[in-house]
Amino acid sequence: MRLPLLALLVLLSSCTQQASTHPNPAHGIVVSASQNASTVGAQVMQRGGNAVDAAVATAFALAVTFPEAGNIGGGGFMLIHFPDGRPPVFVDYRETAPAAVDARTFFRKQDRTPHRLAGVPGTVRGLALAHERYGRLPWRDLIQPAVRLAADGFAVNADLAEALNRVLKAQGDKVELQRVFGRPAWKAGDRLVQGDLAKTLQLIADSGPDAFYSGSVADLLVAEMGRGGGLITKADLAGYRAQVRTPLRGTYRGYEVVGAPPPSSGGTCIIEMLNILENFDVAAHERFSSQTLHLMTEAMRRAYADRAKRLGDPDFAPAGSQPAGYGKALAATIDLRKATPSAELAGDVPLRDEPENTTHFSVVDSGGMAVSNTYTLEESFGGKIVVPGAGFLLNNELGDFNPQPGITTRTGQIGTPANVAGAGKRPLSSMSPTIVLKDGRVVLVTGSPGGRTIINTVFCVLINYMDYHMSPQECVAAPRHHHQWFPDRIVPEAALARDHAAALAELRGMGHAIAPAVGRQGDAHSIFRDPRTNEWVGVADPRRAGAAARVMDR
Ligand code: DON
Repeated sequence: MRLPLLALLVLLSSCTQQASTHPNPAHGIVVSASQNASTVGAQVMQRGGNAVDAAVATAFALAVTFPEAGNIGGGGFMLIHFPDGRPPVFVDYRETAPAAVDARTFFRKQDRTPHRLAGVPGTVRGLALAHERYGRLPWRDLIQPAVRLAADGFAVNADLAEALNRVLKAQGDKVELQRVFGRPAWKAGDRLVQGDLAKTLQLIADSGPDAFYSGSVADLLVAEMGRGGGLITKADLAGYRAQVRTPLRGTYRGYEVVGAPPPSSGGTCIIEMLNILENFDVAAHERFSSQTLHLMTEAMRRAYADRAKRLGDPDFAPAGSQPAGYGKALAATIDLRKATPSAELAGDVPLRDEPENTTHFSVVDSGGMAVSNTYTLEESFGGKIVVPGAGFLLNNELGDFNPQPGITTRTGQIGTPANVAGAGKRPLSSMSPTIVLKDGRVVLVTGSPGGRTIINTVFCVLINYMDYHMSPQECVAAPRHHHQWFPDRIVPEAALARDHAAALAELRGMGHAIAPAVGRQGDAHSIFRDPRTNEWVGVADPRRAGAAARVMDR
């Protein structure tokens, strides 16, 4: 997989040449989980919008065409790179806990109902904030394509048909979900029309985010809370604020990695893992050798241990920065021949299955502005609660809090203080929108769904790119693995287990436990800069049905 040095030099020199003769040749591009949504974003740039305009329009479109995770009833993160030297920004529109929540609200299992787990949605405020500060086209024009997709309907693809059939069969008691999404007999090509959602989106388009947070939509949401025993009040909605935060920045072998700060754990963990690996000649071994898989796993184990101990909402529990030389000190604790038992890194910890789904999309425009956006309802279709009359799904994000303060089990859950539930608090996230720069210019935009595996999916893509110089398609398609401290085991993707069984056997010999393989890990819709042509290369992750859309010559 490694390029010979000569080829690499040719590549790099052609990159420099191209960069000087074509300062801005690249066409804007969007890569998302839905062809319709990517096309909406590309059309916005075609009409003169920038990457933030395109991201806002794509996000609203995904709320229609990818209802498993695209949303207006959830939350997420938008990382923005500016080509003019301004520092990057991170728009945090993570859901917050309603005022009625305290540390013990989710203590008992029976308290963790879909209605109670709904956080105050952040998406509409977050997209409005990003647009107001960094966008260019009128707000209304960015939502109108989503209104049309909802009102006129669109042809579902095989993935969505399957997801709809699954959720409709499993959730027979959810009356509004059944009414809005119909019978579980969907097949590819069928048309999904969402009239109520179209009306809600039109209100947001016409009246701005206040229509959602204090107008008639807020009334419908709070009424549903009343019916289902949920906690969100009108005051919670009116008080929701998206935050602009400073992204985390690290360096790795001459690249700059810009990542997600708390309340995400993504950037912290990814930069910690890179800081550890930089102390080793990673690329001296094949990508799927036991040596490289071992080093990556040991880095994952250590970063996830720190994640469990330290991270939460920075407005409540500031994590502080890691001391200089921390990565080097951790690297020195790695035995190159033997797995470190996770128990040696202290304490007990978590495992909750991470049900699909979240969604990531990447955008760049012709001027070099880049957006890396991951947002979610937490589980697939969130809590499966559609707000009656408003047509949108509610998140069940508050399940990301540590449910039982002080109770940390070796196989079960974390109870450390940083991420205990509290009024107005944001639950800790693993969403990791990431941008990589070389000499100040964007070379890679990436991110993924997958709960706690998100961090390692992004880590794998970055290592494929920065250490192994794989092609863009290989960087995204190559098999992945996951280790999250506890449970103390490597979870390989099926393709890794199938194609690299000998390396996994060697890892077992080194003391690693290997869990049964999973079919797929993540869905990393990414954009790379082609160093030869300077063009953007959009790569939809082949694991699912995403697609790229490019701005055409005008
Ligand atoms: O914020 C988080 O880390 C999770 N709520 C994301 C959930 C997720 O990715 C589910 N699966 N794909």
